[in-house]
Amino acid sequence: MLEYGKKVWKDGEISDWQSGGNLSLLTHTLHYGVGAFEGIRAYQRARGETAIFRLREHIDRLFDSCHLVLMKPVVTREQVVQGCVDVLRENKMAQAYLRPIALIADGAMGVYAPKNPVATYIAAWKWGTYLGPEALEKGIRCMVSSFSRHHINVAFAKGKLVGQYINSVMAKQEAKLAGFDEAILTDVHGYVSEGSGENIFIVKGGKLITPPLAASILAGITRDTVMTLAREEGLVVTEQFITRDELHLADEVFLTGTAAEITPVREINHRAIGSGQMGPITRALQTRYFDVVKGTDDSHPEWLTRV
Ligand SMILES: Cc1ncc(COP(=O)(O)O)c(C=O)c1O
Repeated sequence: MLEYGKKVWKDGEISDWQSGGNLSLLTHTLHYGVGAFEGIRAYQRARGETAIFRLREHIDRLFDSCHLVLMKPVVTREQVVQGCVDVLRENKMAQAYLRPIALIADGAMGVYAPKNPVATYIAAWKWGTYLGPEALEKGIRCMVSSFSRHHINVAFAKGKLVGQYINSVMAKQEAKLAGFDEAILTDVHGYVSEGSGENIFIVKGGKLITPPLAASILAGITRDTVMTLAREEGLVVTEQFITRDELHLADEVFLTGTAAEITPVREINHRAIGSGQMGPITRALQTRYFDVVKGTDDSHPEWLTRV
């Protein structure tokens, strides 16, 4: 059972879950899928304080997503940033997953409903490891999905948009029902895009490779964090298209995401990746990442919003 904060935020006001979270059955987003959301983690750091990781970048992406689909929240970015802090404080949560979501409310019920109000909510819940307790150490087993990521002219890959997630849900269901942990999707040309809710990196010959933003992927904030940390560690990182055979022949593969953090991949479609265990570069980056988000590494204060 989800352990969620009983206080939610709506357009600048805190209320309890029942009154604040109750949505009309005729909420436009519920029917047509036009809505934007974010997933953000707040960690309790090693010295006891709570910090939200890269909050401003997540809220900027939320507003970018809204911009793509012509939604205009009635609140400002600064209000949503403050709302995330307030939700944690009001719920007395030292660590949580935060879910800001901008919805088109009820009003007109046709597909074209430009005058319906846009409501922005923030909820919080406790979320442990996204892919299971052993995933971060032992790695996961993935399948290359039979579903492709949306063609760039079919959907907005750079938007974290509600309806687009049918594609992720289908791919994840397929992978789980086939006995795997996660799906890896290719784009319509067959190049590797990303996981159902994560970006992907491969390691080959000591270098890090990840698909470019043009490969129909979300511009992951963890992806950007990993690229920054890797370069600080002296690693070469390139953004280039990756083929399926390159995936199988990689020395290491890992997935990145706010929820999934840095999760090693140990097998793809029954082919072991490298030694079949977490590789040394993945381990070094995972260790550094956890030290930055929740440890004692204060080298990036601009990424932390103290609560
Ligand atoms: C489809 C998809 N790709 C990648 C990511 C990783 O993005 P981030 O690192 O910003 O959480 C997510 C998670 O938000 C996602 O849903």
